[in-house]
Amino acid sequence: MAATVEVLADKAALVQRAYELVLAQIQTAIDQRGRCTLALAGGSTPKPLYEALAQADLPWDKLYIFWGDERYVPADHPDSNAKMARQAWLNQVAIPTEQIYPVPTDDPDPAAAAAQYEQTLRQVLGEPTAVPSLDIILLGMGDDGHTASLFPHTEALQVCDRIVSVGNKDGQPRITFTVPLINAGRYVLFLAAGANKRPALRQVFAPAADANAYPSRLIQPLNGGPHWLIDQSAAVDVTLPV
Ligand code: 6PG
Repeated sequence: MAATVEVLADKAALVQRAYELVLAQIQTAIDQRGRCTLALAGGSTPKPLYEALAQADLPWDKLYIFWGDERYVPADHPDSNAKMARQAWLNQVAIPTEQIYPVPTDDPDPAAAAAQYEQTLRQVLGEPTAVPSLDIILLGMGDDGHTASLFPHTEALQVCDRIVSVGNKDGQPRITFTVPLINAGRYVLFLAAGANKRPALRQVFAPAADANAYPSRLIQPLNGGPHWLIDQSAAVDVTLPV
């Protein structure tokens, strides 16, 4: 199944729809596998979704939280994706601490941190060699068409022998899920809001375009999707995929 796109009236409606979809997918994962493994997106768009999830009534002990990417900064740094999610959501609910897996960012070598996070994912997901499947992967899309920390024309786009790698944003290291890991996700949900996303969305949804220039095009999950939630502002003059 190819990408599906829902256009919501505004960001608040997008967040509400994302909340409903994520709750449904969490319940499906728990019903089918006894737990839900969920990778969070960073950036600003998902923050109100995390704040809504903080008010949900969920079997928190069945959730296992990862991050699809992380800035290479200390955990208490204002740019930390983990810090944002903890403040908006995770600090307010009873997910066991040992089931929250922030990306390690204290090793002087980002490549070592990426390898360490890969081992954590493999150990928790019980998949030592093949590409493991998370139940839910949340993604945003940058104005340049990047997702996670898979930035245009960077080496991380080509990594297919690992599930976690080192991204590069203007020379700054990031830790990121690789394309194969994202594409193994059982449910991959993109959230993109605002007029600034229009140029990249036009290229990402186009029948043909350079995926190295617009890395969100590389996300073609084996299990179908991805599912996109965009708001009206982002959708202006954007031809949606058929
Ligand atoms: C990050 C994110 C990144 C983000 C996009 C969109 O670490 O910044 O993971 O991929 O999702 O840049 O960001 P906004 O939601 O703020 O537009």
